[in-house]
Amino acid sequence: MQDRADALIEVREVTRRFGPKPDFAATLALRLGLAKPAPVVHALDRVSLKIRRGEVIGLVGESGCGKSTLGRVIAGIIQPSEGEVLWQGTSLNALPPGKRKAADLAIQMIFQNPMAALNPRMTIEEIVAEAPRTHGLAKRGDGAYVDRYLAMVGLDPATKRRYPHQFSGGQRQRVNIARALAVQPQFLVCDESVAALDVSIQAQVINLFMDLREQLNLTYLFVSHDLGVVEHISDRVAIMYLGRIVEEAPVEEIFRRPNHPYTKALLSEVPRIERAKRRFKPVAGELPSPLDPPKGCHFHPRCPYATDRCRIEVPKKIEIAPGHHSACHLNAA
Ligand SMILES: Nc1ncnc2c1ncn2[C@@H]1O[C@H](COP(=O)(O)OP(=O)(O)OP(=O)(O)O)[C@@H](O)[C@H]1O
Ligand code: SF4
Ligand SMILES: [Mg+2]
Repeated sequence: MQDRADALIEVREVTRRFGPKPDFAATLALRLGLAKPAPVVHALDRVSLKIRRGEVIGLVGESGCGKSTLGRVIAGIIQPSEGEVLWQGTSLNALPPGKRKAADLAIQMIFQNPMAALNPRMTIEEIVAEAPRTHGLAKRGDGAYVDRYLAMVGLDPATKRRYPHQFSGGQRQRVNIARALAVQPQFLVCDESVAALDVSIQAQVINLFMDLREQLNLTYLFVSHDLGVVEHISDRVAIMYLGRIVEEAPVEEIFRRPNHPYTKALLSEVPRIERAKRRFKPVAGELPSPLDPPKGCHFHPRCPYATDRCRIEVPKKIEIAPGHHSACHLNAA
C-alpha cells in the first residue's frame, strides 16, 4: 500500500449531499411539523481514494453515480458536505491562502462539451492567456507564452486571433486543454473529455492526453463511459456505484479478475475484442434513486448474491490482492 506521503491527492471519507438550503420560513414550518424535509440527493457517500503522482485513474459507473461530483469536489469547484480532500498530504481547506491558490491552479478540470466551456466572444489567444495573466504566470503582451501552449496541444499559433466557432469540435477541446495547461497544473480531472467528439477525433485527443502526461508529468482522474478508453488510458480503475467506490484495482487486474458483483456485471461479459467498440454492459435492474439509496450494500436490490446481511450492513472496502480493493460481504468471512 502506498502511504499518505505518496498521494498527490487524497479523498478522505467525502460525502456530498445536494438539497435546497432551507430559508427561515421553511425551517420554521419544519420545526412546527407543517412541512416535510426537502428531498436530499446523496451524490457521494464516504468516498476515499488516493491518487499517486503520475498515475491515471479511470473512474467509471452508471450515469448519476457521482463521478462528476467527485471530480468537482477534487477540483475544489464544490465543497464536500463531510470529509476532506488532501493535496500533497494537507487538507485543501487547511492550506494558507497562497498555497491554496497554488493548489487550485495545480488542479484543473476539463469538461465534456468544449464549446460550452469557451467564451464565444473571446479569441483563443485571450482565452488561453486570461488565467495565466490574472495569476502572474504570463505578462501582458507575452505572445510567446500562449503560442507555446497552443503548439503543445497541436494547434497552429497563427490561428490564435480566431474565435471558438471557427474551430472544429476536436480543436475546441484542444483549446480547452491549452487553457488548462497554461496555468501549469499538475493534476487534470477529465470529465468525459472526449465523449462529445467523433470517434476518430477521440483517439487523437486521447493520444494528446497521454503525450502530455509524459511531457509534463501530469496525473489524471479520467471519467469515461467507454470501456476501450478506460482500458487504454488508465493505470488503475475505480468503479462507482450510487455514490460509493465499490472496487478499485490496477487496470489489468480489474478486467481479468473483477471481484465485486457490480463490476462483474459491468465488465466481465464483454468480449475483449468488442471492448474497443462498446460501452459498458447494461446492468440488469434499475439504478435506485440517490434520493433514497438502499440500506446496507447499495447494490443489494440488483445483486444475485445478496443476503440478509447485505440488506443491513454496509460492506467495508478491503484489500483482496495487492492494490485490489473491493467492498462486498462475499470477501469477508
Ligand atoms: N448541483 C446539483 N444539485 C442537485 N443535484 C445534483 C447536483 N449535481 C449533481 N446532482 C445529483 O447528484 C447525483 C450524481 O450526479 P453526477 O453528475 O455526479 O453523476 P455522474 O456519475 O457524473 O453522471 P453522468 O454519467 O450522467 O455524468 C445525481 O443524482 C445528480 O442528479
Ligand atoms: S455485499 Fe452483498 S449485495 Fe453487495 S455486492 Fe456483495 S453480495 Fe452483492
Ligand atoms: Mg458526469
